[in-house]
This record gives sequence, C-alpha cells and structure tokens, in this order.
Amino acid sequence: MLRLSPIPDNGANQLASPMSKPRLDGKVAIVTGGASGIGAATARLFASSGATVVVADIQDALGEAVAASAGPGCTYVRCDVTDEAQVEAAVRGAVAAHGRLDVMVSNAGVLLPTGSVMEMDLAELDRVMSVNFRGAAACIKHAARAMVSRGGAIVCTASVASLQGGFGPASYTASKHALLGLVRAAAGELGRNGVRVNCVSPSGVATPLSCALMGVAPQELEAMTVPHNVLRGKVLRAEDVAEAALFLASDQAAFISGHNLVVDGATTAVNPAVLHTVGL
Ligand SMILES: NC(=O)c1ccc[n+]([C@@H]2O[C@H](COP(=O)([O-])OP(=O)(O)OC[C@H]3O[C@@H](n4cnc5c(N)ncnc54)[C@H](O)[C@@H]3O)[C@@H](O)[C@H]2O)c1
Repeated sequence: MLRLSPIPDNGANQLASPMSKPRLDGKVAIVTGGASGIGAATARLFASSGATVVVADIQDALGEAVAASAGPGCTYVRCDVTDEAQVEAAVRGAVAAHGRLDVMVSNAGVLLPTGSVMEMDLAELDRVMSVNFRGAAACIKHAARAMVSRGGAIVCTASVASLQGGFGPASYTASKHALLGLVRAAAGELGRNGVRVNCVSPSGVATPLSCALMGVAPQELEAMTVPHNVLRGKVLRAEDVAEAALFLASDQAAFISGHNLVVDGATTAVNPAVLHTVGL
C-alpha cells in the first residue's frame, strides 16, 4: 500500500489567522500610476499595511503629495512607463534605496477616445498600447529581474475590458486583453522563481481617467452607473480595487498566480439583458 509521508512544513503555508487583514510589513512596493485614482488609493493602503511605497508616475506634484501623505519612507519617482529606461531606473532606485523589491503594482493606464473601429485613429491606438500594454511589459520585465533571487508579487491593473468588449473603445479593450495574456504568460515563466503575477480587473470607478472620457464629474459618473450595477445600491470605489490588489500582493495569496481577480460586482458574471428577460 502506498504510504504518504507528511510534507515538511517550510513555513510558507502559515497565515497569522484565517481572518487577519493582509499585511505587507517590511515589504517594498512600487506603484505605477500612483499619483491618482486607483494607484493613489493602492499606494496609501499599501503604506498603511506596512509597506514602503515608491509612487511612480508622470504627474510630479500629485505623485509627491501622495507619497508624502502615504506614510514614512514613501517616496515619489518620475517614471514614464512608455520609456523602458525610466522603468529600469525606478526599479534600480527602489532596490538601491531599500535593498529589495517585493511588490510591483503595474497600474499606469490611459483610456483615449480612439473612435469606432472603422474610424480608429491608429496613432492613438499606439499610444494606448504603449502605456497599457508595453508599459506593463517593461514593469513586469524589470520587476521580475529584481525579484528572481527572493521571489515577489506583481499585480497589474487590467479591467473588465480584459474579458469582454463594450466597456470602452476597441483600443482600450485590446490593450487590456493583451495585458491579461502577458500576465498569464509571465506567471507561467516566473513561477519557478517564486514570482507571482496577477491582475486585478475593476469595472467602472469614477477617477480622472473615466470622468475625462465621459466628460462628467465623479459624482455624476457614479450616479449614472448605480442603476446598472448588479450589486444594487453599491458603488465601486478606488479603495475597493486597492483592497483586491493588497490581497494579491500579500502572502495571503501565496498560491495565487496567473489569476484575474475581477472586482465588478458580478457585472461580467451575468448577462443583464437575459437576467431581465427571464424575470429575475
Ligand atoms: N477608472 C476606471 O473605471 C477603471 C476601470 C478598470 C480599470 N482601470 C485601470 O486602472 C488603472 C488606473 O486608472 P485610474 O482609473 O486610477 O485613472 P487615473 O487617471 O486616476 O490614474 C492613472 C494614472 O496613470 C498615470 N499615467 C498615465 N500614463 C502614464 C505613463 N506613461 N507613465 C506613468 N504613469 C502614467 C497618470 O498620470 C495617472 O496618475 C488604469 O490602468 C486603468 O486602465 C480603470
């Protein structure tokens, strides 16, 4: 009879308590697009959860302010993710200053009005891809290089547009589908180095990105979305997305990699048109 001997406990499976909040004590994190919206909420939450955060963005004044308010030791670095050299420098700078890089949140993104498919402005399509996809590729590449010796967690902000069309212009949808493919491929390659790679995929959040596209104020955008939410009466906020990113970045997600954590209140889980026709 086959006898199974117990697997030695190397400590990797120990959690403080099943109900404890995820923590990032002693960890060093970079958050791109950290000057605004989801990135700013993520930087603040990570810092309040014990991490030292490097806010990376191209909006210097906002980025400095987020870093200053996030917590002790948090800093801002100017980093245009479309320039690989700047991404590499941001990673090198974080390692030089703090001795390590544990978490990369590749969150910088743009949503440009590139028009309908038949009218698509291909120069603008290139811009969207260069930030949302190529920029994330640079972040994953250089973060992984810094993490291979001791492991780490990479969390990319994708979108429900990584799963379905119709949530934004085709250029945006294509960029987020491509990003999800990259995350899955990277998770496969980097698993042997103990580097986890995941996505967090929100539905609509009232941030400068979405409000600018719609030409409305945050309160107006939230009021517009509420009647369509499957989760009635709830509004998705940047802080909710940050909580999902925190979980994926933390050791509580120690065996989660290649995952797309959708934060959309079931929007992509059901077909609202069918839901209503069957009387539910
Ligand atoms: N707001 C939404 O409804 C929503 C939904 C799903 C996914 N997302 C994604 O969330 C991420 C954050 O967006 P947000 O809604 O917080 O918008 P936001 O405009 O508030 O923040 C985006 C940040 O990215 C920065 N950025 C843009 N281009 C950059 C570049 N080349 N290099 C470095 N930083 C750059 C901006 O300066 C800004 O600070 C994006 O990837 C976006 O696609 C947003």
